Amino acid sequence: MSGYSTTFGKCITGDSIDVLNTLEDNSINLIVTSPPFSNQRKKKYANFDEVPQSEYVEWLLQFARSAYNKLAPDGSLVIDIRSAYEKGKAVESIYPYEFLIRMVKDLNYKFCQNVYWNNTSALPLPIQYVNIEKIRLKNSLNMNMWFTKADDGRCKANNKNVLVPYSSRMQSLIDKPENFIKGDQVTRPSGNVLTTKSWQKDNGGAIPSNLLSYPNSASNDSYLRYCKALNIKAHPARYPYKLIEFWVKFLTEEGDLVVDIFGGSNTTGKVAEDLCRRWMSIDISPEYVASSIFRFCDNLDQATDYYNRIVAGEEIDLK
Ligand SMILES: C[S@@+](CC[C@H](N)C(=O)[O-])C[C@H]1O[C@@H](n2cnc3c(N)ncnc32)[C@H](O)[C@@H]1O
Repeated sequence: MSGYSTTFGKCITGDSIDVLNTLEDNSINLIVTSPPFSNQRKKKYANFDEVPQSEYVEWLLQFARSAYNKLAPDGSLVIDIRSAYEKGKAVESIYPYEFLIRMVKDLNYKFCQNVYWNNTSALPLPIQYVNIEKIRLKNSLNMNMWFTKADDGRCKANNKNVLVPYSSRMQSLIDKPENFIKGDQVTRPSGNVLTTKSWQKDNGGAIPSNLLSYPNSASNDSYLRYCKALNIKAHPARYPYKLIEFWVKFLTEEGDLVVDIFGGSNTTGKVAEDLCRRWMSIDISPEYVASSIFRFCDNLDQATDYYNRIVAGEEIDLK
């Protein structure tokens, strides 16, 4: 199979169901992935015919079914899903919810949480309803549905690894609680008792909410630079690095195995490599696999050589 390997991982051309079947049971700590969306518009995914909306849930479930035995008992599967409108109607399809219910009821996954990715650079789509008729709002949220197979839902996870900076108000409270709490303690309307002591503890940051805001607008990374220089069309649906970084830090430790079953431009592999996690990225398109090596290249000559060799069917060893 054409592709490449690095110190920590492997990027493979193939159908991810076939590749998953070759992996050891209980071996994957995290699958984090973004499938081709069930859009009505034809997207240009090389070698991939878009699945009609009516068959989408069934199509996607086959991958989750194949992944189940391969996940570690405390592993997680995170799948990025965006809703779409029914063809020709201002009616939103309910397939993400159908998918969620079937994952739990038919495949026995446990649902951990829905985490929303707010794409702060999202375009006002669909143009017809948002811009022209003005009857819908711009949709900037993707659902990141987080599942595990751990029966009680207690998969490996640690929110201390993904703390965010305190708000300025919270920082002032930590620094000088006496400015906010008069006397030793104060009773909130909820009945909670706050003491100056309880506010003084600095945990190094705040626990993030399940709304993550990142733009999807990287413009000068090595991937885009070499795509441009070689006149290769960049992958049209790349994830932001920060979003994957959040999931990898939150749900895995160094040395764990992270897999992306719809790898695309291999954002996941790049994040995993940077964070010293083992990784595997699978994409059905040899061109996407080949250009994703740009994330690991230092100069244009190298990028050109590797790209051509992978497209010709070779496997490149970057170790
Ligand atoms: C939304 S894109 C993923 C983009 C990726 N998250 C990134 O950051 O670049 C979905 C990818 O799934 C791939 N794909 C579709 N069917 C597949 C299959 N059966 N096996 C492996 N990859 C597949 C497509 O070629 C496409 O690149």
